[in-house]
Amino acid sequence: MNAGIIGIGRYIPEKVVTNFDLEKMMDTSDEWIRTRTGIEERRIASDRTGTSDMAYEASLRALENAGITAEDIDLILTATVTPDYSFPSVSCVLQERLGAKNAAAMDISAACSGFIYGMVTAKQFIESGAYRYVLVVGAEKLSKITNWDDRNTAVLFGDGAGAAVMGPVSDGKGILSFELGADGSGGKYLYQDKYICMNGREVFKFAVRQMGESAVHVIEKAGLKTEDVDFFIPHQANIRIMEAARERLGLPREKMSVTVNKFGNTSAASIPISIVEEVEAGKIKDGDIVVMVGFGGGLTWGALAMRWGR
Ligand code: ACO
Repeated sequence: MNAGIIGIGRYIPEKVVTNFDLEKMMDTSDEWIRTRTGIEERRIASDRTGTSDMAYEASLRALENAGITAEDIDLILTATVTPDYSFPSVSCVLQERLGAKNAAAMDISAACSGFIYGMVTAKQFIESGAYRYVLVVGAEKLSKITNWDDRNTAVLFGDGAGAAVMGPVSDGKGILSFELGADGSGGKYLYQDKYICMNGREVFKFAVRQMGESAVHVIEKAGLKTEDVDFFIPHQANIRIMEAARERLGLPREKMSVTVNKFGNTSAASIPISIVEEVEAGKIKDGDIVVMVGFGGGLTWGALAMRWGR
């Protein structure tokens, strides 16, 4: 039995903050941000909106899309570095609000790789037969840990949430291979003190190397070739990092998801937000081979290859 995605949903805050808005707040320019990162605008949640509120909206849509009820869920896994509280977890807050009374619940802390870590964890429970449906959520309110006086980081991040219901899918579909990894010695390059602290150059070098390598590994582990890949969803951190990974795979531009221009880096939410965007745009279709790869604080990384569809 294979585990795959059977329903998806996302929530994007209404408030748009453009690079031109940031020009008024700090010593930066639209030109610098666009050419160095590919970001044009990002969404910022209101003071009243917490990570769990965004996770809740995305989850409702994913459940509806999957055609199951909250009571069918066996486990909730929320990947986030910006939980409302240290505890209860976002997953427990969601469990109550959704009415998922049969579900166990816990959060995953793997920064921007968190959604891939969540999908791979869900796969283990589903394929072992222990659980049938797992709700995997990536949700972040990075604006609350962003230092709006630090131009090195403030221009990069945004808020949002994406969710996927995972469950058993038909033979040949679902997750075909995965890779998870961590290098704690790089923790010093990207961490939260009060705010996000980052050595951009070191993270950049790590990301360029790791994204390409991990993507190649999961393609090989699945017994596939790069030319078999129909669509590529990299973590949306920086267009230059994403382009380097795409070039390593030899994929044409139209086969890579680009949402960083509209949403900035939403950490654990970036991959599920992109999945919804691309499925709705008809770029990911039933039977397609999709490769996803993330990297982030920890340092952590995660990649998977899957055949889309139920
Ligand atoms: N506006 C204008 N100038 C800026 C800005 C800004 N917003 N930010 C930095 N600069 C300046 C710097 O001060 C520096 O000036 P200096 O040369 O006088 O010191 C100059 O621009 C160039 O800085 P670089 O660091 O060389 O710029 P670079 O091309 O490396 O781009 C960036 C910086 C975009 C941060 C890049 O290094 C990057 O994307 N790194 C990876 C970051 C990332 O992906 N982080 C998220 C990880 S995911 C997670 O887990 C949260």
